[in-house]
Amino acid sequence: MSSLFAPFRIGALRLANRIVIAPMCQYSAQAGSATDWHLIHLGHLALSGAALLIVEATAVSAEGRITATDLGLYNDDNEAALARVLTAVRTYSPIAIGMQLAHAGRKASSRAPWNGGAQVPRDEPGGWQAVAPSALPHAPGEEAPRALDADGIQRIRDDFAAAARRAARLGIDGVEIHAAHGYLLHQFLSPIANKRTDRYGGSLENRMRFPLEVFEVVRAAFPAEKPVWARISAVDWVPGGWDLEGTLALSQALKARGCAAIHVSSGGVSPQQKIQVGPGYQVPFAARVKAEVGLPTIAVGLITEAEQAEAIVASGQADAVSLARAMLYDPRWPWHAAARLGARVTAPRQYWRSQPREYKDLFDNAAFGAR
Ligand SMILES: Cc1cc2nc3c(=O)[nH]c(=O)nc-3n(C[C@H](O)[C@H](O)[C@H](O)COP(=O)(O)O)c2cc1C
Repeated sequence: MSSLFAPFRIGALRLANRIVIAPMCQYSAQAGSATDWHLIHLGHLALSGAALLIVEATAVSAEGRITATDLGLYNDDNEAALARVLTAVRTYSPIAIGMQLAHAGRKASSRAPWNGGAQVPRDEPGGWQAVAPSALPHAPGEEAPRALDADGIQRIRDDFAAAARRAARLGIDGVEIHAAHGYLLHQFLSPIANKRTDRYGGSLENRMRFPLEVFEVVRAAFPAEKPVWARISAVDWVPGGWDLEGTLALSQALKARGCAAIHVSSGGVSPQQKIQVGPGYQVPFAARVKAEVGLPTIAVGLITEAEQAEAIVASGQADAVSLARAMLYDPRWPWHAAARLGARVTAPRQYWRSQPREYKDLFDNAAFGAR
């Protein structure tokens, strides 16, 4: 029996297996609204046999987008465009659909990666004034963000809540709050980006305050029977930055507020980070959160092989794995993993005839005949 293909639950959300498709920005929206690209992209990933598809970082306001072509969920047009995409995906796939709600903070107003990813000055097309906990740029030489005042903090909390209500109307199965990768909520957590002297800066408790407030308003705005969880960067990979001790404290505080899981990533707040990259390099962080906090964890980062994913779940280091690049490279990764591990996977009936002869029981409920 494969552990990777054993059913799992995040809160009350039932998942057919432990394979999650990580959120991946597509930089292909128009004024925050999903396009045909999202239909194609999410549509093909939804046929993969993974249990949960997390929609890319979805900005809660126009200013919270990383680039001018980021996906957003801050007005009726955005909501209608996503409704079209999600209706189509749901017609053909039983995959659970999560959405990552995000605000880029000082990493807003950027070019798409394929255009170099640099900051766009605020007076150039596609640029705007970014906001952050403190008026500190992400990298030397960049324009500084504007430090948020009390009204600005309140507005962003309201934006998260409003986006969560829209996600609920769209029938999203679970919300992931993006508190990782150096974006706004991570900027509040990290002493590298947060130099505030009010109740949102200084002590660990103060730095956690805004991310926890955001969690609370999102949790309250989203249906109680559906899970809300967080993606966090376990460490900054910079001396004096956010660390595992903070991650464990934050995870405990999130758990106390009804957080259903922690999706454990790392890094992103500083160009000075020195990441020790290798297969499964972030899995030990997920294992610590799981062991010490007792929340379900999703491990991510260079998980590329079926046996590797199986070992992570079977050994109890994490409850689920999420894959990003490997899913783009091979959108049938879960099919191939199921074949290697002797498990079964859901495939669309239109494709049942592709089941290889040597894997006669690969696809759930597969049947085909002809006269
Ligand atoms: C194209 C692309 C877009 C990404 N966009 C997001 C995103 O929207 N939100 C996020 O939290 N991480 C994002 N990431 C990071 C991935 O979710 C994942 O954490 C990272 O790629 C490591 O996993 P992997 O080794 O399986 O690719 C992105 C990664 C890629 C490759």
